[in-house]
Amino acid sequence: MTNAPAPGKIILFGEHAVVYGRPAIAVPVFQVHADATIQAHDDDRVMIEAVNLARRYALEDAPTDDPLAAIIRLTCARLGSVPKNFSVRIQSTIPVGGGLGSGAAVSVAIARALGKHFAIESIEDIEKKKINSMLSMSSMAGLSNADISALAYEVEKLHHGTPSGIDNTVIAFEQPVYFIKDKPIESFRVARPFTLAIADTGIAAPTKIAVGDVRRAWEQDRARYEALFDRVGKVVDKARAAIESGQVERLGYLMNDNQALLREMGVSSPEIERLILAAKTAGARGAKLSGAGRGGNVICLTDEVTQDAVERALVKAGAKRVIVTQVGGRQ
Ligand code: PMV
Repeated sequence: MTNAPAPGKIILFGEHAVVYGRPAIAVPVFQVHADATIQAHDDDRVMIEAVNLARRYALEDAPTDDPLAAIIRLTCARLGSVPKNFSVRIQSTIPVGGGLGSGAAVSVAIARALGKHFAIESIEDIEKKKINSMLSMSSMAGLSNADISALAYEVEKLHHGTPSGIDNTVIAFEQPVYFIKDKPIESFRVARPFTLAIADTGIAAPTKIAVGDVRRAWEQDRARYEALFDRVGKVVDKARAAIESGQVERLGYLMNDNQALLREMGVSSPEIERLILAAKTAGARGAKLSGAGRGGNVICLTDEVTQDAVERALVKAGAKRVIVTQVGGRQ
């Protein structure tokens, strides 16, 4: 049996503009995770068990756009292995449609677990049969983070058409990323850890719809939207500099600036604004939506002094769940 976890993620700065080539910053969130387990069995078929959906089905019966089937097929093809004689069990604590990367985490966990499963099988094969073929050697090497990210990206395309690739990247590499579409990934130093309260509006908002709406608005008024994306890109670069130099206070202002631009893009919502106002009134230094918007999660910059009051205010204002995470230090 092999297991692999994958964390959730938040986008700190730059969502939506990142789809149009501007930079964005994202960090993993280890308090929530997807976990995949691969179990070898004698049955030829591959069985998929999606615990959260209370579903169990055979790979051969799954449609081509089924995301779990897709990552299994893609990963086996990448490893040159035939998908048979195993079951995949996937379980996740990441809310679906909440902007915390649930889809990408499920794909990353499955690809990583399959990589380990076939690596172990090939070692056993070599021991049993005393073979040393190139094929076995290559699957023994397993999958790199870059391989896993690329596989998960293929599935992201099924979920929402034109993904930037930021979700699969930050989740596969499990470290803060400064991300520009189609450029090599960059990580960066968090000079001083900072604390975020992540509050769930409770509204599941499909990424595809918000991304599609922004695209239509961009098509209708390219000049206006390009200017908004440029301003987001500048905020992202200032935020990276602030994080690298430990200027945490500045981050709050930059989060508010980014939120103002997201509002102008039309991806905020009354529920998001209500949580932001509550957090700021209770002492948060900045707050913004994170991910596609329209619902999902809001991130609020807090500290030891304000944290409890901010959490209470968020719950009172209707947050369905509040996760507190530290960026730059695992909790
Ligand atoms: O809602 P999420 O976490 O899937 O975030 C989407 C982020 C966008 O920038 C809106 C889209 C993308 O592909 O980067």
